[in-house]
Amino acid sequence: MARDDIFKYSEMNREFQFDGIVADVFDDMLNRSVPCYRMVIEMMGAILDKFLLEGDRVYDLGCSTGETLVELARQLDRLNLDFTGIDNSPAMLSKARHKAEMFALASRIDFREADIVDLDISGAGAIIMNYTLQFIRPVNRQEFLARVYKALRPGGILILSEKVLSPAPDLNRAFIDFYLDFKRRNGYSETEISRKREALENVLIPFSVKENIDLLTEAGFTSHETFFQWFNFASIVAVKN
Ligand SMILES: C[S@@+](CC[C@H](N)C(=O)[O-])C[C@H]1O[C@@H](n2cnc3c(N)ncnc32)[C@H](O)[C@@H]1O
Repeated sequence: MARDDIFKYSEMNREFQFDGIVADVFDDMLNRSVPCYRMVIEMMGAILDKFLLEGDRVYDLGCSTGETLVELARQLDRLNLDFTGIDNSPAMLSKARHKAEMFALASRIDFREADIVDLDISGAGAIIMNYTLQFIRPVNRQEFLARVYKALRPGGILILSEKVLSPAPDLNRAFIDFYLDFKRRNGYSETEISRKREALENVLIPFSVKENIDLLTEAGFTSHETFFQWFNFASIVAVKN
């Protein structure tokens, strides 16, 4: 796995994009920048195992290098599920397709290039959106989640993971500090941390857990629960009843 050192170099001081440079180091970036990344996938697997029906289709919106779907396809083998990953970054999808081939899962996982805001799918057993809604423009999020709700079959589930803000300023500050310590422990320097923060400014726009739940409720989801939270990272499950 190539090591993420892209923000060590000053020429990388630009707005964050999911291009080839980022795709090349993305798996390392996720493991060192997203707290409990693998544990959340494992927990999602347990939820999907309980709620999905044999032969259901699972969509991963903003699938990046396919890490989540490859892991879930292995974990949920007995359910004979079909998986579709959607992303608008060709560089990420090229990595994802290569990974699926390496794990002999290419026939089970279809990767598509599309803008998820124009989502046009139906009958999904589950839709996963991990750390991706935060990159959708806030004005588009409500309408987009209404499409996600519509795309699920009755009883289908949405899993949403996001970086989150706390509405309490002192706790928000503390949670961000804990996160910065997490990145330092994972080998990122102060320069890398601050350059990446600048690059993500106005690109990654987090909401609070409550704001996300309000969007889900407005979209039609009546059952929802936060199943994981690590300071400023949260994962929510919502069921279409
Ligand atoms: C932080 S990454 C997601 C990580 C991934 N879900 C995982 O857990 O491994 C965000 C991804 O969303 C994709 N993305 C952002 N906006 C998108 C859009 N409008 N349509 C499709 N993909 C989008 C990016 O290309 C990127 O691969």
